Amino acid sequence: MLFAAAVCFLGETLSQDSVPPSKVAFSRLHSTLFAVPLMLFLARASLWYSHSGRVNFHPIDLLIYEGKVQHTAWLSQASASNSFFTASRKYKQRYHQPPPPNFNKWYEYASSRSAVVTDDFDNVYDDLLPFWSLSPSEIRRYTWDILSQSNNGVGGISIRDGKVDVLPGTPGTHRWMLDGAIRIIENFVEWLPDMDLALNLNDEPRVAVPYRDIEKMRRKGRQPRLVGANKITKFSDNRAGGWAPVTEEQFPDTNFEMLSFQRTFYEYGSVGCPPSSPARRQRLWDTSQLCMTCTYPHSLGQFVSNWTLSGDVCHQPDLADLHGLYLSPAAFQGSHKLFPIFSQSKAGGFNDIRFPSPWNYMDKVAYAPNEVYPDPSFRDKKVSLFWRGVTSEGVSPGTGVWKGMSRQRLVHLASNPTAPQHVLLPVSEGAKQFAYTPVAPSELKKLLSTDVHFVDPIVRCGGRDCADQAAEFGFGDKVDFQEHWGYKFLFDADGAGFSGRFLPFLQSRSLPFKSALFREWWEGRLTPWLHFVPVDLRMHGLWSTLAYFAGVDGLVGGRKVKWEPKGREAEMIAEEGREWAGKVLRKEDMEIYFFRLLLEWGRLTDDRRDELGMYIP
Ligand SMILES: *[C@@H]1O[C@H](CO)[C@@H](O)[C@H](O)[C@H]1NC(C)=O
Repeated sequence: MLFAAAVCFLGETLSQDSVPPSKVAFSRLHSTLFAVPLMLFLARASLWYSHSGRVNFHPIDLLIYEGKVQHTAWLSQASASNSFFTASRKYKQRYHQPPPPNFNKWYEYASSRSAVVTDDFDNVYDDLLPFWSLSPSEIRRYTWDILSQSNNGVGGISIRDGKVDVLPGTPGTHRWMLDGAIRIIENFVEWLPDMDLALNLNDEPRVAVPYRDIEKMRRKGRQPRLVGANKITKFSDNRAGGWAPVTEEQFPDTNFEMLSFQRTFYEYGSVGCPPSSPARRQRLWDTSQLCMTCTYPHSLGQFVSNWTLSGDVCHQPDLADLHGLYLSPAAFQGSHKLFPIFSQSKAGGFNDIRFPSPWNYMDKVAYAPNEVYPDPSFRDKKVSLFWRGVTSEGVSPGTGVWKGMSRQRLVHLASNPTAPQHVLLPVSEGAKQFAYTPVAPSELKKLLSTDVHFVDPIVRCGGRDCADQAAEFGFGDKVDFQEHWGYKFLFDADGAGFSGRFLPFLQSRSLPFKSALFREWWEGRLTPWLHFVPVDLRMHGLWSTLAYFAGVDGLVGGRKVKWEPKGREAEMIAEEGREWAGKVLRKEDMEIYFFRLLLEWGRLTDDRRDELGMYIP
């Protein structure tokens, strides 16, 4: 029963008793999965194609152009304030409520640290919106509920009298995370009211409230909140008494449903979607075909044209079979009740409250080039797509589900493609027209360079899945993290949650490619195609994307194909990302974001929250 659904996924393979070697099944699955049917593209994206199946320009040219325009528009609304007064006014306009108490302290903190983003904290607003449907005492009780159970995968932080500390009952293995969060909070804790916080110790998100309930909650949250007749500008006194004490004595029961190693898409991944949406209505049994209706809304040809929308799972029922979180997560403790849990990232449809990852703040993995591994200028780097990692996205316990996970698909596709790939290439030398051209694996390897491998050993596997994966993938050399900077193109692929390495990638002079289900606190600050190169989770545009930036010069089906690398564009994105990360993703920015989030949380959990706010004339 445990893996019934996984059997369906591989029904073709597993229904036969003489199970063919997994490699064969894998190839069959993926050769078709990645072979993008040109005809379908033609039908759906007719705007971009002439009748001969050719495009008159490269879609990435357009996407890069659009990225610049988008960023300018985003910045003008995100960064409009230059005084406390305007910041407060903007706040009220955007969020239809007065700013929380101590907003002036927040503004001081932010402006004295040269914050660029002063106005757009929509992620905070969106994450907290449904919690306005709970009363302050309910939020406090829910927090206590989950903190006082011993097997919840949650750690607690308490703030009392301007001091922050770990609450009892947190497992030692995850202490670093709480310590990291505390290190961030310490910077501004004197301005925070007394309260307790429940932090998710798992990588995977936790809370997914069904559509009808969450929509009702959001509607309630959107009701305008104005300071009442008696404007109160200070958090209530005696708040400490409102939080029932969390003690060493923990209760063994849990409010969460344990779904580790099980399918989660239908029970959790898509419950936040409208009942009429494809994610709720469709179950795709034929995973060997690329689902065009799943990619079309957020794509231009093979390329991601709307990163935000690509994070919305509601039009993407095929993701059920394409990600470790949905196929077989290592740790999944979920709830349909709106528990207040702070997580480092979440997938679309989850209701966790995002906060900046202590992993990044604590430099667990840092950008630190040195004499042995310097970060040369872009043109001096090796022209290759580089990735190293482990099979940690989900657990493949002997059911073959690894074949659907995005890391495994990435490594297979980049290192050992077994079917022709449709790559967008010029129709002839010097031509300004392009066509999706099938390229045989042997030619692909000569045309474009990749170095994309798992490192020893295969983890999170059981039964035959350990040996099968080792046989399929082999292993790449273990590398020092700082070796990354030797390569032009770095891939960032989802693991089980937030990305530990994307920030260092951005900070470097290399160009990061990123495919991700998970969204973090900084979502919106970065613009795809301006600060990084987005890749669809299905990876079907990976080779075309690489060809665009790396250039090609070789034979395709016996025909000579030459395309000058878009080196200037590649370097421009690498540099823009680097520079921008240095402005809006600094440690200071993590502090500023968390500070503002916790002021909002302080108000939400205050019994007098409806009267509470900064008074603005
Ligand atoms: C992306 O899609 C969302 C949701 O449909 C939409 O609101 C947004 O405007 C789109 N963004 C761009 C840049 O087209």
